[in-house]
Amino acid sequence: MRTNFCGLVDEAMIGQTVTLCGWADVARNLGGLCFIDLRDHEGIVQVVAEPSGVEGNARVLATAAQIGYEDCLRVTGSVRRRESVNPKMRTGQVEVVATRIEVLNKAQPLPFHHHENPGEDIRLKYRYLDLRSPQMQRKLRTRTRLVSALRHWLDARGFQDIETPILTKATPEGARDFLVPARMHPGEFYALPQSPQLFKQILMMAGFDRYYQVARCFRDEALRADRQLEFTQLDMEFAWVEERDVQDCVEAMIRDVFAEVIGVQLVAPFPRLSWAAAMRRFGSDKPDLRIALELVDVAELVKGSGFKVFTDAASAADGRVAALRIPGGAALSRKQIDDYAAHAAKFGAKGLAYVKLSEQGEISSPIAKFFEADAFTALLGALGMQNGDIAFFGAGEFKTVCDFMGALRLKAGHDFKLVAEGWAPLWVTDFPMFEWDAEAQRYVALHHPFTAPAIDDEGDLRAHAGSAVSRGYDMVLNGNEIGGGSIRIHRAAMQSAVFDLLGIGAEEAQAKFGFLLDALDYGAPPHGGIAFGIDRIAALMAGCESIRDVIAFPKTTGAQCLMTGAPSSVPDAQLAEVHVRVRERPVG
Ligand code: AMO
Ligand code: AMP
Repeated sequence: MRTNFCGLVDEAMIGQTVTLCGWADVARNLGGLCFIDLRDHEGIVQVVAEPSGVEGNARVLATAAQIGYEDCLRVTGSVRRRESVNPKMRTGQVEVVATRIEVLNKAQPLPFHHHENPGEDIRLKYRYLDLRSPQMQRKLRTRTRLVSALRHWLDARGFQDIETPILTKATPEGARDFLVPARMHPGEFYALPQSPQLFKQILMMAGFDRYYQVARCFRDEALRADRQLEFTQLDMEFAWVEERDVQDCVEAMIRDVFAEVIGVQLVAPFPRLSWAAAMRRFGSDKPDLRIALELVDVAELVKGSGFKVFTDAASAADGRVAALRIPGGAALSRKQIDDYAAHAAKFGAKGLAYVKLSEQGEISSPIAKFFEADAFTALLGALGMQNGDIAFFGAGEFKTVCDFMGALRLKAGHDFKLVAEGWAPLWVTDFPMFEWDAEAQRYVALHHPFTAPAIDDEGDLRAHAGSAVSRGYDMVLNGNEIGGGSIRIHRAAMQSAVFDLLGIGAEEAQAKFGFLLDALDYGAPPHGGIAFGIDRIAALMAGCESIRDVIAFPKTTGAQCLMTGAPSSVPDAQLAEVHVRVRERPVG
């Protein structure tokens, strides 16, 4: 059908006759002369229809004059040097003088054109039009190259690519399951995997040693810019390993793949932070290390103040009083400070105290009145306050203070242009094993229930569950959690103890995870692994704000596919077949 790709026509082809297929990206009719930007997946080339010179031109010109946006064309013509070179186009040195133009399919007036800046809803409804744009083509190609580079890297190192089931039993990763009714087993359901976690562990027990899979995972959770209901992991597992074996291997992989796909050299080795240090210094377990701001603990310095909010938090066992100094921040207006407080409130802050030190050294602060002059000076000194700075203070429960002060740090970093160029990867390690869920009155796993504790004795773990550290680790890049993994529990007694601490009784554990407990009993080797979020890595590589831009057909934040209309209701007969009755149909 064609001899060449539009985007690859170049000077070496001058004088040749080519046949190209593509869309009319733009058509300009200048009366006796028509220009068409013909676009295919490789790019755009200019096609000219002229009134004179080559046989058949009157017909060509007449056809060209009728062409509209996104018509599908086949063009034959000869390549010649362009009079007015366009240095911005890859094919900008040349043009194709048409001797024949066929309209293969005329396009109706479009709901939008990718040259405009349409809203995301309309882009998602007509995703095929959106995906035609060179930007979207580039983003999805980056994703292709990422996955291909990962596969090559792993294939060359003896990892086995093994598929695991999509119709399966629930594997808890902290989200809700998607359920699939089992027609052949009335009243029973398969669950779609939140991850291949248990299968990959079983594969290690089955002797495969090194496994990977580009695996689709399903989690029914609230959607955000970096979260989809279904997403893709690079899932990996290793037998006979400790933390550093896994980390060193995948760190090398990520470094190699960044170099190969986008030509970026990541630092070696990645810095490492314990979870506790990350929370203390950055208020986040996925700190963006490109931002030079750090939190400072000031509990000791405010204990003697008369501000009850501070003194209460400073003396509570799970309390925290932290400060964030922003160089140059005294320029913030009252209104801007209120905006910061409103931002912090979204993350649980009940208030946001501050101290402003003007360029002239005047202090303005709603909390100065609670301090003796000396104590206040000492506080400012400890923060390194300079004229022109502001410091914000957060007091309250440890986790809440970390959350809102961490969020404030990110906002200030961006607002004050304190985000360094480049890439800041790191490992976060030594996570707490459990979090106490006050509502449910039980522990929940911070990672997942199969992560090994650092303490290798069940009795010790039970005795110190609240302070136990896990053998989990996350890889973080520019403030995004791009991967998470752990060394796993490989002894049944420890797995049972952890289930027990999580409030999963022996009977329930047997019903849900009996196969795992059995397998652990028949010679399970020490093992561990990690899973990377491919969508997140692709989005970072392609410079996208949202992972939706590197997923061909994503869901909206309202969990819908605007193109197909999924989810949708199904006929009663189909429901009956799978033994399901809908309790309440939405009205209207
Ligand atoms: P985890 O739950 O941390 O670990 O997931 C691994 C990585 O997957 C990505 N990710 C997501 N990406 C897009 N949308 C989502 N909803 C979403 N949820 C997670 C993140 C994350 O770092 N089985 C364990 C891995 C292991 O222990 O080996 C697991 O799934 O980048
Ligand atoms: P008040 O005396 O209640 O007006 O509070 C004095 C200052 O402390 C105000 O700027 C409040 O925003 C701030 N504040 C109140 N609660 C907290 C808190 N938990 N953490 C940080 N600042 C707070």
